[in-house]
Amino acid sequence: MWARQDAVRRAYVREMFGRVAPRYDLLNGVLSLQLHHYWRRRVVQMLRLSPDSRVLDLCTGTGDLAIELARTLGPAGEVVALDFCEPMLRMGREKARRRGLNHTVWLHADALQLPLAPDQFDAATMAFGLRNLIDKPAAFREIYRVLKRGGKVAILELTRPQRAPMRWLYDLYALQILPRICGRGRMRCAAPMCARCSGGSRRATTC
Ligand SMILES: C[S@@+](CC[C@H](N)C(=O)[O-])C[C@H]1O[C@@H](n2cnc3c(N)ncnc32)[C@H](O)[C@@H]1O
Repeated sequence: MWARQDAVRRAYVREMFGRVAPRYDLLNGVLSLQLHHYWRRRVVQMLRLSPDSRVLDLCTGTGDLAIELARTLGPAGEVVALDFCEPMLRMGREKARRRGLNHTVWLHADALQLPLAPDQFDAATMAFGLRNLIDKPAAFREIYRVLKRGGKVAILELTRPQRAPMRWLYDLYALQILPRICGRGRMRCAAPMCARCSGGSRRATTC
């Protein structure tokens, strides 16, 4: 019974992202006030990767983090960008092709059951994907399995600031302003910042 419920929830997440894929980048930019580019760059800097690294970007979506990784590593490195939503992945593949980044492999697969051999990556990354995973321990087990010994993991997620006044500003933006913007359409936008459409709301079924 649980397996069936999980399958339904996975299908729901996949379909939701499939519907928003054409607008995902635009929404991400507008709703994060373009800050997401800076956050991704910081993640890549903090990993301190050598140019010949192999990196797995899970829940890659439209591939912004995978592209930042590929650009930083250069042609000596390799990035495997993985997502189970083909329309999101297609957008990423196309963006990388336009930028001439050929050392990225775009893999259509589930982060909870990686079709990858063990011990092969120097690092694994995930941006705004953790909240959408229906079985987080399974995802971490898989990451651990495919990482080389001493491999690094970087997870980029939004959390609510603990201290005022940043917490007040965050709540105003994420709980009041964004849901109004996203609520105009009937569809959820799935943008990471939006409390209505992602992990911040009781209405969200995926977190
Ligand atoms: C909020 S988007 C984040 C996309 C991208 N990483 C970014 O930073 O903008 C979450 C992504 O996780 C993917 N996803 C959710 N669950 C997944 C799973 N079990 N396996 C693979 N991808 C998954 C969705 O398809 C979606 O593209």
